[in-house]
Amino acid sequence: MFRFKTLVVLIAVVAMILPACQPAAPKAGLKCAPNCEYKDLVVGFLQTGSEGGWRAANTASFKETADQLGLKLKFYDSQNDLAKQVAGFNQFIQDPEVNVIVLAALETTGWEDVLKQAKDAGKIVVIEDRRIDASEDLYATYIGSDFAEEGRKSADEMCKLLEGMEGKNVWELVGNVGSSAAKDRGQGFREKMGACGIEVTKSQTANWSITEGKQVTEAWLKETQDVQGIFAQNDEMGLGAIEALKEAGLTPGVDVKILSVDATAGAFKAMLAGDLNVTVECNPLLAPQVYEAALKAANGETLPKWVPSQEGVFRSDDPNLQTVTDGRKY
Ligand code: AHR
Repeated sequence: MFRFKTLVVLIAVVAMILPACQPAAPKAGLKCAPNCEYKDLVVGFLQTGSEGGWRAANTASFKETADQLGLKLKFYDSQNDLAKQVAGFNQFIQDPEVNVIVLAALETTGWEDVLKQAKDAGKIVVIEDRRIDASEDLYATYIGSDFAEEGRKSADEMCKLLEGMEGKNVWELVGNVGSSAAKDRGQGFREKMGACGIEVTKSQTANWSITEGKQVTEAWLKETQDVQGIFAQNDEMGLGAIEALKEAGLTPGVDVKILSVDATAGAFKAMLAGDLNVTVECNPLLAPQVYEAALKAANGETLPKWVPSQEGVFRSDDPNLQTVTDGRKY
């Protein structure tokens, strides 16, 4: 009897100790490490929505590159709704097939819990496009633009456009306010605008949209026409402002200088027409870098926590504007 009891206790103790002695269970879907290939990756991509030309190019980059590399992409459209995006994140955590989650975050905050759950489930998380405020050990890397630098470049360019003018009143059309793109572009612009005496006399969200960009500008124009420049945090809002100025009998690009961010096809068309003065580039073709980073992380490499994109500035007075426009992919 004593022997039998001792045996039972022994078996129980061994059963408790044994898992701790074994090598850690392979992370979900990453049994291939350190020799994983693109075909081993199943990527769940949480896109913000489809708010404009930049976003369309970003989505196309992810879909086309996945096909080229031979990896499986599960695409989730968050429809610019944070609750939907969080639900989609949870869906990918539960999905046993998904081993990489890519997030284009609608808001900077509120990600710690799902990121912890993703980590516990052994998923690799790569943040793309929009930075987030969360502990860096919860994701592999962030690949995206330096939005603050885009804001600083925008202020420098606006200073050049307004040079010699007595008044330097600038209206700011802001993106979706909780996003890193909107916060950081606004902050970067303010860091540099004082250098030439710019004053932001009006600032309001137009949610990245042409329609809202137009509506907000229309409402402002009814209050005053004392404006020398418009800083639109993306091209669509700038295009909306252009429509509003024209309908109010003003000449955009001349009476009011217009600068927007993204450098999409719509912006180049507006620059060729003389309506838009400058567009500051924000590169949406991020998928090759994101997938490469995910593969490296799958194979156990430690990555830098931020890989900023290389971006330029395009001006309507560039003599090569047509050639530059013809060479653009989006
Ligand atoms: O995060 C990038 C921003 O998101 C783009 O500037 C804007 O057009 C998009 O919706």
